[in-house]
Amino acid sequence: MLKKTLIGSLIFLLYTPLSAYDLRSNMLQLGAELAEVQKSFIASDQKGVEDSIKRFAQHSQDLLGDKDNFTAMLPANKKHKASEAVMSAQIISHNVQIILDAIENKRNQSGIVRREEAQRAYTYIEHACFRCHNIVRDEYKQ
Ligand code: HEC
Repeated sequence: MLKKTLIGSLIFLLYTPLSAYDLRSNMLQLGAELAEVQKSFIASDQKGVEDSIKRFAQHSQDLLGDKDNFTAMLPANKKHKASEAVMSAQIISHNVQIILDAIENKRNQSGIVRREEAQRAYTYIEHACFRCHNIVRDEYKQ
């Protein structure tokens, strides 16, 4: 079983351009990091939200914020869609900031309001993922 998986991964690595491997593995990591944020929100673990959103923020900006870098990762027929990455990076960083401001109580609001705003900002981050997948990744025929 393990052997099969190993051979499978080796074949995948051999026949996939490095750039495509980079994109997929970075996306998997981004997904895992966002799942940590979601878990912390669900558990009402404020410290967990703060730690996980900071990790996620750094990685999402590194991956999406640099257009040339993202262009290099896209397959040839998708390269013209790279500006979506920068747009997504902006939406994500705006909403990460809302969450961090809520935690630090930058606007002197009640805990209830801050919790609400932070949770809503989290859903907007997810929306940025869906948005780009809809445009760049998924082909919907009808
Ligand atoms: C700028 C466009 C873009 C944005 C924004 C984006 N993705 Fe992706 N994502 C892609 C593309 C393109 C693929 C397909 C990569 C592949 O399989 O080669 C992908 C694939 C994935 C995969 C599947 C990896 C696999 O092959 O199993 C996951 C998980 C993922 N993205 C998570 C996320 C999460 C979470 C976010 C938001 C935080 C996000 N993505 C934002 C473009 C984007």
